[in-house]
Amino acid sequence: MMDYVKEIEAALARYLPQGKREEQQLIDAVRYSLNLPGKRVRPSLTLAFARLCGTEPKVAMPFACAVEMVHTYSLIHDDLPCMDDDDFRRGQPSNHKVYGEDIALLAGDALQSMAYAAMLGEEAVAAAGADRAALAARILAEKSGLLGMVGGQVIDLSMEHRQVGIKLVRLMEEKKTANLIEAACMMGCAVAGAPQEQLDAAERYAHAIGLAFQIMDDILDVTSTAEELGKPIGSDIDNEKNTYMSLLGLRRCRELVDALTEEAIRALDAFDGDTSDLKAFAVALANRRK
Ligand code: IPE
Ligand code: IPE
Ligand code: MG
Ligand code: MG
Ligand code: MG
Repeated sequence: MMDYVKEIEAALARYLPQGKREEQQLIDAVRYSLNLPGKRVRPSLTLAFARLCGTEPKVAMPFACAVEMVHTYSLIHDDLPCMDDDDFRRGQPSNHKVYGEDIALLAGDALQSMAYAAMLGEEAVAAAGADRAALAARILAEKSGLLGMVGGQVIDLSMEHRQVGIKLVRLMEEKKTANLIEAACMMGCAVAGAPQEQLDAAERYAHAIGLAFQIMDDILDVTSTAEELGKPIGSDIDNEKNTYMSLLGLRRCRELVDALTEEAIRALDAFDGDTSDLKAFAVALANRRK
């Protein structure tokens, strides 16, 4: 799966305008965050599901890039002082530490528009077909928006400095993190014209690895180092966040991650093709150290 990373990064770079412009500061800020070495988990999933459903990665690439653009915007905004107030991201100073809060806010805004321009651009629509492109764009809009990722971020903030139950923490983590991963996987199926049962199965796989991914993120915030993670550790504790780790502790979190990974692997039974890479990816994410 990680073989896709280089191609994804090259494709992302092609969406940035060339030459000097009046908006240069904004373009530089967008380029800065897109270029930093993220793991590219979400776009890799889009390409893998497209291939599993019988479509070339090339056709799915604009959609994979769109997911990474939305993810990158969410990280820029997540680090702002009015949100988690974190100074490091992907091993470098956060966007607002380099460009200022105003430009960081606008860079996030611009990345969100760029995502839709990529998916609905002439080339993307010609390759995927208008209906499939529209479905993929709708999935991303719904999963990343008001009742999806952004909704999850609001629930996250609303729970700072007070104790809540695990049910609400689960809802928050499903929305803020699993939903975008669901979009990534489903969009791969959508551009391939896969049947609804396969879109549903991709959603189940992604829901399980997505929740496991955020539980791992909560674990690593406590157990890792800033050097290895490329972002500050202890951020959740400093902000008095409710997380799986703060509520359940390491042992129970580990059990949940393993159970969710098995659940994800079972969801892949709905596909006829070779799912070995997606199985291995689920296991690798459950054991990630960054
Ligand atoms: C970080 O996502 C934010 C979460 C939803 C946990 P990643 O861990 O995928 O971050 P990058 O893209 O590799 O930097
Ligand atoms: C981030 O959750 C979720 C989104 C950015 C949507 P976190 O706040 O835990 O992510 P990190 O730990 O800063 O990467
Ligand atoms: Mg956050
Ligand atoms: Mg954060
Ligand atoms: Mg975190």
